[in-house]
Amino acid sequence: MDLDPNRLLIDADELQRHIDELGAIGQDPRTGGLWRGVYTPVWRQAVDQVRRWLEEAGLSTRLDAVGNLWGRLEGSEPGPAVLTGSHVDTVPQGGKYDGALGIHASLAAVKALQQAFGQPRRSLEILVICDEEGGRFRSDFWGARAVIGAIRPGEAEERRDLEGVTIAEAMRQAGFDPARIPEARRDDVAAWLELHIEQGGTLEAEGLDIGVVHTITGHRQQRVRVYGRQDHAGTTPMDIRRDAMAGAAEMIQHALGVAERMGRPTVATVGRVDAEPGATNVVPGLVSFTLDLRDADAARLAVLCGEIDRFNTECAARRGLRVERELFMDRMPVPLTPALQDLLAQQATRAGLRWKSMPSMAGHDSEIMVERWPSGMLFVPSHDGRSHTPAEFTPIEQVVPGVRVLAAALYQLAYSPAGSPG
Ligand code: GLV
Ligand code: MN
Ligand code: MN
Repeated sequence: MDLDPNRLLIDADELQRHIDELGAIGQDPRTGGLWRGVYTPVWRQAVDQVRRWLEEAGLSTRLDAVGNLWGRLEGSEPGPAVLTGSHVDTVPQGGKYDGALGIHASLAAVKALQQAFGQPRRSLEILVICDEEGGRFRSDFWGARAVIGAIRPGEAEERRDLEGVTIAEAMRQAGFDPARIPEARRDDVAAWLELHIEQGGTLEAEGLDIGVVHTITGHRQQRVRVYGRQDHAGTTPMDIRRDAMAGAAEMIQHALGVAERMGRPTVATVGRVDAEPGATNVVPGLVSFTLDLRDADAARLAVLCGEIDRFNTECAARRGLRVERELFMDRMPVPLTPALQDLLAQQATRAGLRWKSMPSMAGHDSEIMVERWPSGMLFVPSHDGRSHTPAEFTPIEQVVPGVRVLAAALYQLAYSPAGSPG
């Protein structure tokens, strides 16, 4: 049996209500920005809210060993499950669509399918991933890596937040046992589908409804620490200083300049700078800054990273400084599963939508999932291309078509006898 995506009943009012209700959890009333760092009380509040919605929809729920939330609709046939979902954490001062919309869309899609067709053949599960942004621990897709079994032993003790709390400590405070992390691994998965906002302006500018993602960008994230000599800001002449800030400023300007000269789609971002001891009248002895470097082409990413590393070493030597790099993430561009790209494209076409195949310049849990099983991803437009800001917005009329495509693809995978995710 085939399904016409436009005949599915999607409850747009409920979708909007869920967007707004979850979007109020962790919201800073001064700025409207959200901050739901993993294992914090507001993060837990958000997970518990979603859990209530999943249970109201008749799904059986559980939290896994790292705090991913699962909602399962049992299939009539044994075998691996079809997964859909996204992440519940946010960046600091983030918006209410990044990650969250994929959760709302998955629930709306599963509800519509359940209402129209009842029990699926294959079990269908909604996965609410605990930590994708790495905003608290720079934790490199912690939730998804737990699901594919890719967290290294000891990693929970190594990574720390800015207060020095390790992931292991934060897990214990939130009621999870780090010794049990390996139990979060799943092996019985047939496919993963994720709906997300584009987070850039391409779809809106081109008047398109849907993006079908073919590749997720390569990205490297690191902290650079520049060590100099702490001195008096008045009595130390400029020509004898070993000023960590002078070196860091030069390195930052150079890194941004390399990406600017390389042109689109290469990007470099310095999102955080810290100076120690951090006083107006003290030449800093240590400046650290983060670097986020991306390109969807592996060769270009290597040029970008190589040029920046080379310059930073040279700059430190010239100024009598010492430079250290701490790598949080180093990922090559990742292609998503061709058969699922085709499936999403077919459903978008069937729904009469305007779509295109495109790369993602944002990182996503799908790039982790595809290491273990077929994975596909679709985008809906982001107004003005804004994301990682409270200004994130997608009108509900642009969300619903994405939910239809997601639901129709899930139907093929979980309900249709032919459903084979390739
Ligand atoms: C995740 O949102 C990322 O691309 O940084
Ligand atoms: Mn994000
Ligand atoms: Mn996201």
